[in-house]
Amino acid sequence: MQEITQSAQRVPIALGDRSYEILIGAGLLGATSSYDGLPRAASAAIVSDTNVAPLYADRLHEALAARHRRVVRIDLPAGEVHKDWASLDAIFDALLAVHCDRKTLLYALGGGVVGDIAGFAAACYMRGVDFVQVPTTLLAQVDSSVGGKTAINHPRGKNMIGAFHQPLRVVADLATLSTLPKREIAAGLAEVIKYGPIADADFLAWLEAHIDALLALDAEALAHAVRRSCEIKAGVVAQDEREGGLRAILNFGHTFGHAIETGLGYGEWLHGEAVGCGMVMAADLSVRLGLIDAAFADRLTRLIARAGLPVVGPALGADRYLELMRGDKKAEAGAIRFVVIDAPGRASVRAAPDALVADVIAAHTGA
Ligand code: NAD
Ligand code: GLY
Repeated sequence: MQEITQSAQRVPIALGDRSYEILIGAGLLGATSSYDGLPRAASAAIVSDTNVAPLYADRLHEALAARHRRVVRIDLPAGEVHKDWASLDAIFDALLAVHCDRKTLLYALGGGVVGDIAGFAAACYMRGVDFVQVPTTLLAQVDSSVGGKTAINHPRGKNMIGAFHQPLRVVADLATLSTLPKREIAAGLAEVIKYGPIADADFLAWLEAHIDALLALDAEALAHAVRRSCEIKAGVVAQDEREGGLRAILNFGHTFGHAIETGLGYGEWLHGEAVGCGMVMAADLSVRLGLIDAAFADRLTRLIARAGLPVVGPALGADRYLELMRGDKKAEAGAIRFVVIDAPGRASVRAAPDALVADVIAAHTGA
């Protein structure tokens, strides 16, 4: 990845007394100024995973050394399959073992898995402590570190146990993306692409023109994609922090996607891969509901494929998909509700007949 010289860009997220900033730029993780203004708690903990810690935890630790008397390091086993009670407990054990108090500040250093678990630990530890997100995957920088959703998985469903808990700041260091495996870059692009059809048709066109640059980790393209994604997400979350309505559009592709992840077993497909394929299915559902024309769904499918994401789902069978989706958090009284595209750049949530959904599944999984 080429050197990025621009200074931090700041995207505000307006949530009253829970407002904060997303800092975006290269080299931010190790810069002491990235943490200016945060509480100088006596105790802090860096929660990371076994892939990310060897790469970046020392750098973060050095930047924090003057701010906290003691910094505990907690390295969780990496991967979606470890987004569970055992990892959560490991955090509590480590904090309690050294008597971390209720002013302890947690730093979540890693991808969405670390961010979601550490955020949930922060929501629960001593009934709630503050935390900072330091996302190191594209997916975490454009989505999971922003907005305060925290969770672990349950064998019966993704992100089923969790809490809303906003971070005090998000520090998105674009330079960390240079060590990310290509498959993870593609997975992150799924959540970037998502923002186009649901909220910004111009951004979708920009992505079509810049997808190759993004895959090549072009610094300018990445900075724009991360910033625009965060702006869109911040705007939605500011209007509907706890998903009373509008925020659900951020789950475009996730109803099908979560079924793929849970149905195959966590970690088989990456979250972003499942969301990418889920968007293909949700776009087709929008066509079959008469909301958009097939040309738009084809356009989206082509972009998802160009990003290196799968566009054909696993053959779990329509019945299994439907059973898994009935457990989705958006479901009401057993009726599955899907995020659909009403027009390019505009989405809503609605139910759909099982038979129509089964047709979509058959068309995109061969099931
Ligand atoms: P992840 O956290 O598993 O990270 C992907 C892999 O990359 C891991 O193996 C990790 O160790 C490694 N890694 C991370 N940063 C690296 C780096 N800079 N260099 C090298 N390796 C690195 O996965 P993810 O895609 O970041 O996040 C997926 C999770 O995010 C899912 O559990 C999903 O449910 C969650 N999510 C949450 C929200 C939310 O709003 N809270 C939104 C979207 C997704
Ligand atoms: N990623 C969905 C949300 O934050 O609401």
